[in-house]
Amino acid sequence: RTAPAVIVAIDGPSGTGKSSTSKAVAAQLGLSYLDTGAQYRAITWWMVTNGIDVTDPAQIAAAAGKPEIVSGTDPSAPTITVDGTDVAGPIRTQEVTSKVSAVSAVPEVRARITELQRSIAAEAAQGIVVEGRDIGTTVLPDADLKIFLTASPEARAARRSGELKGADVNATREALIKRDAADSTRKTSPLAKADDAVEVDTSDLTLQQVIECVVTLVEEKRAAK
Ligand code: DC
Repeated sequence: RTAPAVIVAIDGPSGTGKSSTSKAVAAQLGLSYLDTGAQYRAITWWMVTNGIDVTDPAQIAAAAGKPEIVSGTDPSAPTITVDGTDVAGPIRTQEVTSKVSAVSAVPEVRARITELQRSIAAEAAQGIVVEGRDIGTTVLPDADLKIFLTASPEARAARRSGELKGADVNATREALIKRDAADSTRKTSPLAKADDAVEVDTSDLTLQQVIECVVTLVEEKRAAK
């Protein structure tokens, strides 16, 4: 028989290996994959490109419904477009990264993106791994499995600077701590561990070990369904 669809929520701050883990787990288990951070980055990119003042929540709220954001959910080749334009590259710039917390804190933005996320998850026939900040708490509170990844600030900054070749580790750590603080203290669905989430500290684990740990947890849930 075919395995039942399984919904997996993976939350945590940046630099915990969330994206690499989520993609690999989805690929290994034949599940779809959704990077919700990419969606918030995409709407931020659109705001910046269209001259919206991102220090003004009223402007952001008024524009929140305008861009059409489409996510491709194949874990081996995830895609993201805004009004038909591929924005996979532009959403990773320093400018977008520094503005995404402000944009994603606006309730109208979260309502729009959350609705999109729920419909993508509902359409995933084999199941899906959804990674973000509020997936287990707000977007998919009935997920079959919730994982909360953590790591020390040092481990996270080291990983992020490795990704952004040549970036200064101290500057990266400061920017990352600032963004996490903003994401964790905002009023509407902040970064938080769901009560029923399994917490995995990845500081002293290799990526392969984290992947194996999560794959095992998903397989256990599937067997119990
Ligand atoms: O995972 P990331 O660094 O690409 O996420 C970019 C930003 O998007 C992050 O600073 C907070 C926001 N975000 C969010 O508010 N809720 C999510 N579910 C995912 C990301």
